[in-house]
Amino acid sequence: MEKSNKKISTESYKGVRDFYPQDMFVQNYIFGVMRKAVESFGYSEYGASILEPADLYKAKTGEEIVNEQTYTFKDRGDREVTLRPEMTPTVARMIAAKRREFSFPLRWYSIPNIFRYEQPQKGRLREHWQLNADIFGVEGIEAEIEIISIAHSIMKEFGLKDENYEIRINDRKIMNYILNDLLSLSPSESHTVSKIIDKKDKMSREDFADKIRSVVGAKSDELLNLLHSKNLDDFINKLPDEAKTHQGVLELKDLQTRLAEIEIKNVVFSPTLMRGFDYYTGIVFEIFDTNPENRRAIFGGGRYDDLLSIFDAEKIPAVGFGMGDVTIRDVLLTYGLLPEYKPVAELYICVLEEKYQSYANSLAQKIREAGVNVSVDYSGRKIGDQIKYADKNFIPFVVCVGENEVKNEEFKVKNLNSGEESTLKKGEMAEFLKRQK
Ligand code: HAM
Repeated sequence: MEKSNKKISTESYKGVRDFYPQDMFVQNYIFGVMRKAVESFGYSEYGASILEPADLYKAKTGEEIVNEQTYTFKDRGDREVTLRPEMTPTVARMIAAKRREFSFPLRWYSIPNIFRYEQPQKGRLREHWQLNADIFGVEGIEAEIEIISIAHSIMKEFGLKDENYEIRINDRKIMNYILNDLLSLSPSESHTVSKIIDKKDKMSREDFADKIRSVVGAKSDELLNLLHSKNLDDFINKLPDEAKTHQGVLELKDLQTRLAEIEIKNVVFSPTLMRGFDYYTGIVFEIFDTNPENRRAIFGGGRYDDLLSIFDAEKIPAVGFGMGDVTIRDVLLTYGLLPEYKPVAELYICVLEEKYQSYANSLAQKIREAGVNVSVDYSGRKIGDQIKYADKNFIPFVVCVGENEVKNEEFKVKNLNSGEESTLKKGEMAEFLKRQK
């Protein structure tokens, strides 16, 4: 290949992010909160490659994602490969492969990066990181309660209050009953209507009604009336008698009651919540910020009891969610809950003359060994400039090494935030700095 002289742009690829240290700091904080919360429920971490055979997504992920949003290419061996657009098929594959070795239930989590070819916009990028927490092997509603409790405790750990967000719930079983039995739609009509309902918030009430009418016809008003229900009781009142005790309805009632019993009260029934994936089989849920500035879901998940059947494995009931880093960052920013940046270095050693460099290095090493992060200045520039450098890089403490310090083994450690100076013996410095953390 001939080399081109064209200069290469420093911009990153469209819709992905570079993480400069200050961004990485926030990212690590977010991951840290996620990890701590899921591990407190006993979830174990797993991982997998970004690359998957394209076939993995064709069965159950959902047309829009597979046909319009995946990064799929042929490798050199002519195999169709996809950059994972979600983690659920991967974790289902991993469990199906070794199911006989496990004793259930399994509680697993991962924080993978996910790729979707979307139009980049607020809350939507082409690469994001997504916490996935899933429980496998529990048939009853306890699994949904646990998964939603985890989501609730993550939000609490981030400092969010119940009134800042709502947990929207629905059930695929009752929606299937409405579309297939009550409205007698064919499978393809039912699929089309589900996709229209899924996009309801992206159109006006009139457009939505027109779109529904174009597929559902005469029974549209019955459907629209149900979809505009104020709450679960209102919805149940509108259902025909035979459906008032439908399994999907009972599950929703039970879930709402039992979540309230454990003080999770910001749960809202949302009959238009469909979730884009074809694999959900029961309860589905999403979490939304109540502030209209962030209109994207922070969490999305639900029950998917049949996904393992795509691997010709027996069914294993499963419930889980995905939570994106992009949306939670936007939410934390809105509520002023992002952490203040702290650099890794805790102490900066300034060196007065080159001949004290080795002394400064061994002093630094001694303090590092005691568990404090230290950097040393090698520039030889003026001491004032060395201190300015530390300040500009948010390093909280500086110490200068020159003739007196080397002779007396006594140091003035300066706190650059408060201006306070402490005179310390060499052996006292690490302990002093550790106390300041
Ligand atoms: P999802 O609703 O597609 O579900 O994604 C879950 C969350 O990931 C969303 O609520 C959002 O926070 C974030 N997210 C999704 N797409 C993007 C994007 N393009 N840019 C930024 N953030 C995004 C799933 O992926 C399911 N597999 C979750 C699941 C796990 N269900 C059961 N277990």
